Amino acid sequence: GDKKYEHILTSTPVPKVALVTLNRPKALNALCTPLIKELNEALQAADADPTIGAIVLTGSEKSFAAGADIKEMKDKTVTSVLNENFIEEWGNMANIKKPIIAAVNGFALGGGCELAMMADIIYAGAKAKFGQPEIKLGVIPGAGGTQRLTRAIGLYRANHYILTGEMFTAQQAADWGLAAKVYEPAQLVDESVKAAAQIASYGQLAVQAAKASVHQSAEVGLRAGLEFERVRFHGLFGTHDQKEGMAAFAEKREPNFKNE
Ligand code: HXC
Repeated sequence: GDKKYEHILTSTPVPKVALVTLNRPKALNALCTPLIKELNEALQAADADPTIGAIVLTGSEKSFAAGADIKEMKDKTVTSVLNENFIEEWGNMANIKKPIIAAVNGFALGGGCELAMMADIIYAGAKAKFGQPEIKLGVIPGAGGTQRLTRAIGLYRANHYILTGEMFTAQQAADWGLAAKVYEPAQLVDESVKAAAQIASYGQLAVQAAKASVHQSAEVGLRAGLEFERVRFHGLFGTHDQKEGMAAFAEKREPNFKNE
């Protein structure tokens, strides 16, 4: 159903695509804990909805997300962050099985950059600004920045940006392989929804096997990763959609995937 959230908006702009829009404009979409809870709820609902095949996550043209909420964090203590396991639930996003595209306009800083990197694909608006400025606040990235940014852009570049807190541009993000594409800011969400619709048009068992296999490359060594890929690949030969996809090619027609 159309649940009303306080800090996010949800919609289905085209069939099979869930669009989640961060909506805390006065705080540049700073990621307070209630927002993260709502985001998890919306993503889990989309993941569980059989009519949805892919998810787009975006913010505003000014800001994707300016980081964790500094005003919420400033008085926390070691005891309080340990007791509430602060930031732990941000990781729930990594358990979503359907592909997530982060459509990043404006600021993606700190936890905002880390949130974008928890998605599977990043498309950037031409004026997007990425960065991990936590060092300026006396802390370090705490939602995956030291790990995911390093894997995405390389160790020495990651050290530079994490240690200086300097921002980098959409074009730099694209040149280094973090953003897959750069679009005009006003086109970004439409183009992201289009790509999500294309992904959602394929057999979802194959899509989810592809996502899981690519993610496995960050978890294990090459031999174990190849083994994981082969098991998932072989398994797809038990699906209707493999028979249908290959038959349709041979018969020069469009496939009719059933997600089975
Ligand atoms: C709380 C924030 C915020 C944040 C912006 N705001 N970022 N509030 N947490 N992360 C609020 C401001 O306080 C201000 O509120 C309003 O949003 C508008 O911001 P301005 O600073 O006035 O806008 P501007 O001058 O355009 O500057 C934009 C900015 C700057 C460069 C993005 O806001 C900024 O540097 N923000 C903090 C970025 C950051 O350090 N992020 C990392 C956070 S630490 P008022 O009430 O004054 O209007 C982090 C840790 C992650 O993310 C680890 C675990 C997740």
